[in-house]
Amino acid sequence: MAPPPAQPPRQHPAEGRPKGRSPRLITGIAITTLTLVALVGLAVLVTWLSIRPKGLNYTVEEAQVHGLNVAQNHLNASFDLVLKAHNPNHKISVYYDSIEVSVLYSDQQTLAFDVVEPFYQRSRNVTRFESKPVARAVPLLSSVSRDLEVGKSSGVIDQLAVRVKAKIRFKLGSWRSSQYVLRALCFSIVVHLDSSKAFEEIDCDVDI
Ligand SMILES: *[C@@H]1O[C@H](CO)[C@@H](O)[C@H](O)[C@H]1NC(C)=O
Ligand SMILES: *[C@@H]1O[C@H](CO)[C@@H](O)[C@H](O)[C@H]1NC(C)=O
Repeated sequence: MAPPPAQPPRQHPAEGRPKGRSPRLITGIAITTLTLVALVGLAVLVTWLSIRPKGLNYTVEEAQVHGLNVAQNHLNASFDLVLKAHNPNHKISVYYDSIEVSVLYSDQQTLAFDVVEPFYQRSRNVTRFESKPVARAVPLLSSVSRDLEVGKSSGVIDQLAVRVKAKIRFKLGSWRSSQYVLRALCFSIVVHLDSSKAFEEIDCDVDI
């Protein structure tokens, strides 16, 4: 028993201290680091759960067409839309820096275009805004021209779509995100030319 204890101190006098202390030191650092990482992770998780970003929702609440006229594959028409933008987030508000609204015929072609006033949307807010895209002598695909003429005589245009393209930024406390492009697509909009008929709301697919 005597030789083993005698030899190590002689051979590793300098390494004795680091070897004896560093494991404890390293263990201490490791535990501290892990604890910090766990705490930061927990804080992020709690923050995330309390903020929990939700998507923005879009609905076409009202759509009317006035002065629809098709001649020689060209269209004149004024669209009258009411769109509902819902920000369901509890803490995140949204800057709409620019908003463009287009009316399409199915997914085939764009009929009319409008630019809407930018706005700031608080958290848990529903904002309705109007858009009035106008088509003036817009050249039509012959299939679309035919469909619109049929629609005009029957009083129902049933394959309209609305596309919203907006540049937005999110705001959380004093933090502002960079700019994102929001695209909302609202298909299968049915418009009665006799505007006394009820309009059926259409929910849009929103992609950010
Ligand atoms: C559309 O309106 C313009 C005048 O703004 C007119 O010259 C044109 O003939 C109209 N076209 C149709 C298809 O009604
Ligand atoms: C949403 O915000 C707008 C503009 O600040 C306001 O006019 C409207 O009343 C708000 N709506 C709701 C449901 O909070």
